[in-house]
Amino acid sequence: MAAAAEGPPPPSPAAIPETTVPEITPPRHPLFARIRLATIFDVPHLHKLIHQMATFERLTHLFTATEASLAATLFPNPPPRPFTSFTVFILEVSPSPFPPTPQTDPNFSPILKTFHLDLPVEDTEKEVFRSGIGGDVVVTGFVLFFPNYSSFLAKPGFYIEDLFVREPYRKKGFGRMLFTAVAAQAAKMGYGRVEWVVLDWNVNAIQFYEQMGAEILPDWRVCRLTGEALQSFAHLNI
Ligand SMILES: CC(C)(COP(=O)(O)OP(=O)(O)OC[C@H]1O[C@@H](n2cnc3c(N)ncnc32)[C@H](O)[C@@H]1OP(=O)(O)O)[C@@H](O)C(=O)NCCC(=O)NCCS
Repeated sequence: MAAAAEGPPPPSPAAIPETTVPEITPPRHPLFARIRLATIFDVPHLHKLIHQMATFERLTHLFTATEASLAATLFPNPPPRPFTSFTVFILEVSPSPFPPTPQTDPNFSPILKTFHLDLPVEDTEKEVFRSGIGGDVVVTGFVLFFPNYSSFLAKPGFYIEDLFVREPYRKKGFGRMLFTAVAAQAAKMGYGRVEWVVLDWNVNAIQFYEQMGAEILPDWRVCRLTGEALQSFAHLNI
């Protein structure tokens, strides 16, 4: 059979004029972060942060802490050496670099890190959390921890009571920075473990902890004796 007459060849793609395509770099917003040891002057911010933590965990009915009780229990006078008792790391951010930070303890130097964010952070509570050191420094999170002990390892460890990053600053690496500061301190001190508890519905935190390399132990239950049940022991003859 004779071949059908062939149509005209398909049009060749129009020659694209050679132009220089400008490289598009997304705008980056540097944010300077610093972790330092908290002092009694941080108590008003800490109280608000802990209340936000209780709200997040839907546990405000258990929240009885006041600024005075936090100050008295976390920052007694004379102060114990950091890491031997309740210790708080405060995370602050600033749009400009931090001035040289005095090292208040020989065992810990403030940790500095620069973040490059795609978008500036919209922080509606900036004024509430403006740092006492002045400038545009804002308190954005904290971690509260203290020593515990593993008899099996015959080593101390750290127990983390709270780890919290304020909502507008989440998923940007600040939680990792705070967690790393505690784990690095434990490792530096030769400690055996870092432990904490997490609510089972807090899937975000569980995923975060797994990302940090932690194991979630399924066989362990948290036990707590508190309130009247605890007080009743005060009058018991042992
Ligand atoms: C849990 C919390 C501290 C994490 O802080 P964060 O600043 O949001 O975490 P980061 O941005 O540093 O994330 C670190 C890593 O965890 C991962 N991660 C964080 N949140 C996650 C989520 N919701 N789902 C999955 N992965 C998550 C990130 O992908 C990141 O991994 P990468 O570094 O490889 O990208 C913070 O979300 C928070 O304060 N939540 C409310 C309070 C709370 O739940 N505290 C813990 C109670 S036990």
